[in-house]
Amino acid sequence: MAVRPSVKGTSLCIVTGASRGLGRALALGLSASLQPGSQLVVAARCGEALRELRDGAAAAGSGVDVCPVQADLSGDAGLREVVRAVQRQQQQHGAPDRLLIINNAGELLNPDPTLHPTGPLDNSMHEQARKETGDPELRKMFVDMHRQGQLLTCQESARKLLEILAKDEFESGAHIDYFDP
Ligand SMILES: NC(=O)c1ccc[n+]([C@@H]2O[C@H](COP(=O)([O-])OP(=O)(O)OC[C@H]3O[C@@H](n4cnc5c(N)ncnc54)[C@H](OP(=O)(O)O)[C@@H]3O)[C@@H](O)[C@H]2O)c1
Repeated sequence: MAVRPSVKGTSLCIVTGASRGLGRALALGLSASLQPGSQLVVAARCGEALRELRDGAAAAGSGVDVCPVQADLSGDAGLREVVRAVQRQQQQHGAPDRLLIINNAGELLNPDPTLHPTGPLDNSMHEQARKETGDPELRKMFVDMHRQGQLLTCQESARKLLEILAKDEFESGAHIDYFDP
């Protein structure tokens, strides 16, 4: 059985866009990899999916406190909801050894270029790009990537990031392209 990477010390971790896709895979991986006593704040618009995540982590006995925050992060009000949840966690649990922010929420029409280290992912966003990209050349590029098996699953991409966190050899603030082998 594969041994899960384990992130050292207690963490307070925020994952935005945790309701599906890569964010969900990361949140699931983190709930199993963070030390007991850690806190995981998960945010997205679909509150039901976030509550499912919390209940799944509790049922698996992870010992990580998963806090769902239903919020639209395209505006200040949503961001303030996340900040309030983080403040509540800190008041309740005290200061963690480390703070991790996984700023993953996004949509196909407004992708943040700094997020491309995820690698091309085989999920609904990529499927949409293959079907709906207007520029034929660009659409062909997406279709070819899929045909040639160049896409990562969300679980593979999440595992790469969890391994980097568990190794703990990166400098705070470093840019690491974990798509590259
Ligand atoms: N798929 C790829 O090939 C690829 C490649 C490179 C980079 N990326 C980037 O990686 C990130 C994750 O992509 P994915 O493929 O996992 O996408 P996805 O399956 O569409 O998931 C996007 C996530 O972002 C959340 N989200 C979107 N708009 C939001 C808003 N206004 N407020 C709060 N949450 C919001 C969604 O939750 P709700 O709908 O519940 O709010 C969902 O949890 C994105 O930022 C994307 O641009 C993806």
